[in-house]
Amino acid sequence: MNKTFYIETYGCQMNTVDSEIVTSILIGAGFKLVDDIKEANIILLNTCAIREKAVERVINKMGQHKAFIRSGKLEIAGILGCIPEHTGDELKAKLDFIKLQVGPDKYRTLPQLIKNIYKDKKYHEELDFDIEENYEDVTPYRSEHTNAFISVMRGCNNFCTYCVVPYVRGREKSRSIDSIISEVEKTIAQGISEITLLGQNVNSYDYNGIRFPELLQKVAEVKGMKRLKFATSHAKDLSEELIDVIVKNNNISNSFHLPFQAGSNEVLKNMNRGYTIEEYLAKIKMIREKIPDIAITTDVIVGFPGETKEDFEETVKVLKDTEFDNAFMFIYSERKNTASAKNFKDDVSKEEKGRRQQFISELQKKIGLVQLKKDIGKVTEVLIESVSKKRDDQYKGRTEQNRIVIFDKIDDCNIGDYVKVKIIKAEGVTLFGEIVE
Ligand code: SAH
Ligand code: SF4
Ligand code: F3S
Repeated sequence: MNKTFYIETYGCQMNTVDSEIVTSILIGAGFKLVDDIKEANIILLNTCAIREKAVERVINKMGQHKAFIRSGKLEIAGILGCIPEHTGDELKAKLDFIKLQVGPDKYRTLPQLIKNIYKDKKYHEELDFDIEENYEDVTPYRSEHTNAFISVMRGCNNFCTYCVVPYVRGREKSRSIDSIISEVEKTIAQGISEITLLGQNVNSYDYNGIRFPELLQKVAEVKGMKRLKFATSHAKDLSEELIDVIVKNNNISNSFHLPFQAGSNEVLKNMNRGYTIEEYLAKIKMIREKIPDIAITTDVIVGFPGETKEDFEETVKVLKDTEFDNAFMFIYSERKNTASAKNFKDDVSKEEKGRRQQFISELQKKIGLVQLKKDIGKVTEVLIESVSKKRDDQYKGRTEQNRIVIFDKIDDCNIGDYVKVKIIKAEGVTLFGEIVE
């Protein structure tokens, strides 16, 4: 079909890959991708439902785009991803002009659905889950040129009580090892040498008995693989075997994202996280013993139902003691249909949640900077990712520990190259350095 489309992506890296899959499917069916919304006949928003704020953002954004729809060039507005699976009906009531909602397992139907809408001018949706659908044969249309995300499993079986993911993405399914390796090889052949393996819970990867450490080892061995990352790991499934694979392979990034969510065992139990804080900290200790220079990042939720001041103090203590490189700190957002929404009262006031988040944000800023400063004086290998946003005579890159570093350009160095950079200073969450080789 000879129509143009524009796609906007919200939410996690899984959605980034999914938008690349959608783009590939639509281009394959003859549609043309445009990066200026004014040129588009079709606009698609690939959405996230993880917190209410993410939903509000999409509603505002679509509201803004409405003017274009009225103006004529734009003919179809559609919503993809996680909101359609969660509160699609409510969304449709608020945005009565949308013509399309499609969930994460139904992207192959998009070309036909769009054709149907052009024919009958009616609203269409495809929201079923499909336990077989892994998009193994679809080569994602990459939006990035130095790093590729490759999805290895989809869905989640963990049912943390606060979380919508199991409801909006369905049950876990792992992609075949052959299709992963073949995509990795193709990606490297295209000149992308940094790869991130993705899953909501990568270490529950299980393809006919092949588990994540074995997969990671196989991917690390692919010829031309310079730097390998993966996300997200769940503390309850994290094994020593996985850490040993990182130790064994120089091309696996020395960075690890391991959410702990809360410091209090009572809260962790009510969240259904499947570990105690002691078990979590023992795993951190094991990781640090095996890989002393590893950068560890985490996620935290504040204001979960019933979280007392004492519970919160335990979260503060974990942050102080563990000295994470970075932490993503979220205010609990009650999600419709989840167990915590059904069984607990959202009883921490909005003000108190805000105060708790503010407090740990400031604390973590200081802790993170102390961690960063440890790199000053070191020479580290950096992948050049882009020109710096602030100055076009500088590059932005990432170290082996996944830390951001800014440095002056020199002749003969280009985006996608690996260079040795000496770290000179650290500010906020950023390192600054100079190329030495
Ligand atoms: N699968 C990953 C997390 C995916 S969601 C894991 O289990 O670690 C990313 C983060 O969003 C979570 O780690 C959690 O900190 C946060 N989050 C999820 N649901 C939330 C909710 N209802 N309110 C606030 N934060 C939430
Ligand atoms: Fe959500 Fe828990 Fe699954 Fe992560 S592991 S996606 S937080 S249910
Ligand atoms: Fe959001 Fe869906 Fe990812 S809810 S966090 S985009 S899996």
